[in-house]
Amino acid sequence: MRLSVDVVIVGCGVSGLVAALSLPEQLRVLVIAKGGLEESNSILAQGGMSVLLDETDEDDYFADTLEAGHGENRECTVRIMIGESRSALDYLRELGVEFDTDSQGQLDYTREGGHRKRRICHFKDYTGREIITKLLQRAQQRDNVTFMDHTTMVDILESSGTCVGVRAVDGQGDELEIESGWTILATGGVGGLFEQSTSFPIMTGDGCRIAREHGVRLENMDYVQFHPTGLYSPGDVRAVLVSESTRGEGAVLLDAKGERFTDELLPRDVLCEEIRRKMEEEGSSYVRLSFEGLDADAVKARFPGIYESCLERGYDMTREPIPVCPVQHYLMGGIHVDENSLTTMPRLFAVGETSCNGVHGANRLASNSLLESVVFSRRAAAEITRQHAACQTGTA
Ligand code: SIN
Repeated sequence: MRLSVDVVIVGCGVSGLVAALSLPEQLRVLVIAKGGLEESNSILAQGGMSVLLDETDEDDYFADTLEAGHGENRECTVRIMIGESRSALDYLRELGVEFDTDSQGQLDYTREGGHRKRRICHFKDYTGREIITKLLQRAQQRDNVTFMDHTTMVDILESSGTCVGVRAVDGQGDELEIESGWTILATGGVGGLFEQSTSFPIMTGDGCRIAREHGVRLENMDYVQFHPTGLYSPGDVRAVLVSESTRGEGAVLLDAKGERFTDELLPRDVLCEEIRRKMEEEGSSYVRLSFEGLDADAVKARFPGIYESCLERGYDMTREPIPVCPVQHYLMGGIHVDENSLTTMPRLFAVGETSCNGVHGANRLASNSLLESVVFSRRAAAEITRQHAACQTGTA
């Protein structure tokens, strides 16, 4: 079957949906998803979305991001992400996304590893689900946006070095040739290639692999992040994430003797190393995370998703420490893009975890991924809008 649209978006996590919603309504947009429409890593995001608190926070936020990233970040894109963070937050709230507030109605910021301040907006411990639910509702209301689930991209279409669409296979096994003016890859990361990951297994780096086959530049594909605290549960297909915000709110890591052995809010890669060293020393597959110092009812109210997931696996985290260990979590590298998410191939864009715009450097600062997805997907849509207008007026 042959289809023709203005823009095809491959992937329906936060970055794919924000791009779809940010494009002008006169453009025909098709979003294809490898699994179900809710099968994206974004929906699993617990901790939240980091934002600039106010102008006095700018240098601190910049320094935290660079320190976590070992200075390998692209400084100009970090400045863009931080500078556009408040407007990204306003944009989501205007679309109806809710974030927790305190009794005065002010945002209830939490803290995670590597942040010197509480600057993370969240909705309980299922921020990603709240964002995806609202974005999906909005996108499904749009007349110009169509969705095809269980449809896998198998190639991109190239003509004279320019991307002109994608080839895909739908749920019935039928091949589709989707011609498009512009193509956005939002296929997530590579977690499905790892034995233990917080990712859905369908995230197998398709966008990066196919882009590379066409000579599109990739960057830092070996920069893979492990999350310090996945629930140790060997039978699980996908590791249960135990958000860093649990540690931001006071949960502590314990060794086999029940003693603290590290600073729980170190940047992720440093903390993973501390935990690995402790596991090796003890000959164990996990360490323990204890909520003992926290009020049990407050824990259940603040972390209902994690509480339930642990309970389903036989652990009541309000009564006993839970076993945790580092698990694959995120790809900092990806398809090299500029500050407008354009790849090295004309008319081919990449956003979210699939892309590498350099904001994360060698190690992503916690809760910078939802923010990065919103900011740079909006920029991709703005650039496509500009290019489309230039084509219409013959100034392209
Ligand atoms: C978490 O809640 O710990 C994960 C958030 C993130 O990956 O940034």
